[in-house]
Amino acid sequence: MSEPLVARRGGPLAGEIRAPGDKSMSHRALLFGALAIGETTIDGLLRSEDVVATADALRAMGVPVTEHAEQWRVVGRGIGGLRRPDTPLDFGNSGTAVRLMMGVLAGQNFQAKLIGDASLSKRPMERVLNPLRDMGLQVDGSESNAKGTLPLTITGPGDLVPIRYVLPVPSAQVKSAVLLAGLHAAGETSVVEPIPTRDHTERMLRAFGAQVKTTDSSEGTVITVIGQPTLQGLHINVPGDPSSTAFLIAAALIIPESKLTVTNVLMNDTRTGFLTTVTEMGAQIEIMNRREEGGEDVADLIVVSSPLKGVSVPDDRAPSMIDEYPVLAVVAAFADGPTHMAGLEELRVKECDRLDMTAKGLRACGVTADETESTLTVHGCGPDGTVNGGAEVETELDHRIAMSFLIMGLAAEQPITVDDGTMIATSFPGFNNLMNDLGADIRATGDCTA
Ligand code: S3P
Repeated sequence: MSEPLVARRGGPLAGEIRAPGDKSMSHRALLFGALAIGETTIDGLLRSEDVVATADALRAMGVPVTEHAEQWRVVGRGIGGLRRPDTPLDFGNSGTAVRLMMGVLAGQNFQAKLIGDASLSKRPMERVLNPLRDMGLQVDGSESNAKGTLPLTITGPGDLVPIRYVLPVPSAQVKSAVLLAGLHAAGETSVVEPIPTRDHTERMLRAFGAQVKTTDSSEGTVITVIGQPTLQGLHINVPGDPSSTAFLIAAALIIPESKLTVTNVLMNDTRTGFLTTVTEMGAQIEIMNRREEGGEDVADLIVVSSPLKGVSVPDDRAPSMIDEYPVLAVVAAFADGPTHMAGLEELRVKECDRLDMTAKGLRACGVTADETESTLTVHGCGPDGTVNGGAEVETELDHRIAMSFLIMGLAAEQPITVDDGTMIATSFPGFNNLMNDLGADIRATGDCTA
């Protein structure tokens, strides 16, 4: 059942929060733990619906995954050691969960049926299936279609062939699926990425004991994994998610007189494009206590509301802030002058067509937004203007569209309603309560008890 939510303008936000665990690293910690020998313990794992989908799929294939006092424990089955699931594996809304799992399933010698919700069932899987087919994966033709969308039945051949694959789209999910399949193939599997994408798979696999080499070539960075290693279970601390933190930063920037401290934020430079961009726009963000934790850079951020100016965001920055464009567009609506964002073609194949739905939502709220196939220009209202709001924004099962327009509602003249807030639990469970504890006003429509 859908749950419309409404956000109203109120006082400033203030307080200190710990960023929720990073979603990308949470999926990987569970998955790689399952491929290791021995026990992996995980602190700080994001307990969101997307990550639970990965945990449940692993359980369905015989991997003990348990949770006790907020620490997760995975008892590894080793490379190729999963068991055939008795029922279809349901990945809900999560592209990361299903695409990374395809890489792992390619290396097993059984058949599995993969399903997802209405949003995931529209998203392209060919980008992952193509290289995996080259390695030997069989995809059931009766269900697959031109776009290769879910539901799909796939069969691992038992023996995979290593490949060298040049990524046709900048996608960490595709890169990771091929590298994970490469763990199961005899020999060296390489992925070449012309534009860098998030590198958590490479870093975390090394921590588990895999040999992962990174070299430069004329085509881009070459990441090579040596197949059939023995991975060793370990302890992982998952730092805070920079993509979820972006909503907190955005709110603090556009709600006058706000001051928020967000602790334990992942600062890996394949993820910091939003921070770079809002800083160029004039955001006052103090980066404190930079430190290394579990092989990743982490810091605490102090954000205060700031006058912002429009900027031009270059296309090669897109992979480092790919999930942050909807909320950047919201921030840009309050800036002085236009903000131009380029290289956004991948936004069209996220949980919804995020480029289109962001532009539509902005226009519904009275903001001028120009969209092309791969760009978005948002005309900011500037210090003397206002963002009207007063609309019901469609979310199409997209958590980030929902959170972005709720944030906009906290600073717009009129309240903003999003048609469904239930999907927020896929990446940021407890978002409404956390925001309200900081001083925001987000409630179910019709709920007058604030
Ligand atoms: C992710 C990679 C990105 C991102 C997604 C998480 C990952 O997708 O949008 O939310 O964890 O690898 P693409 O790799 O498809 O760009």
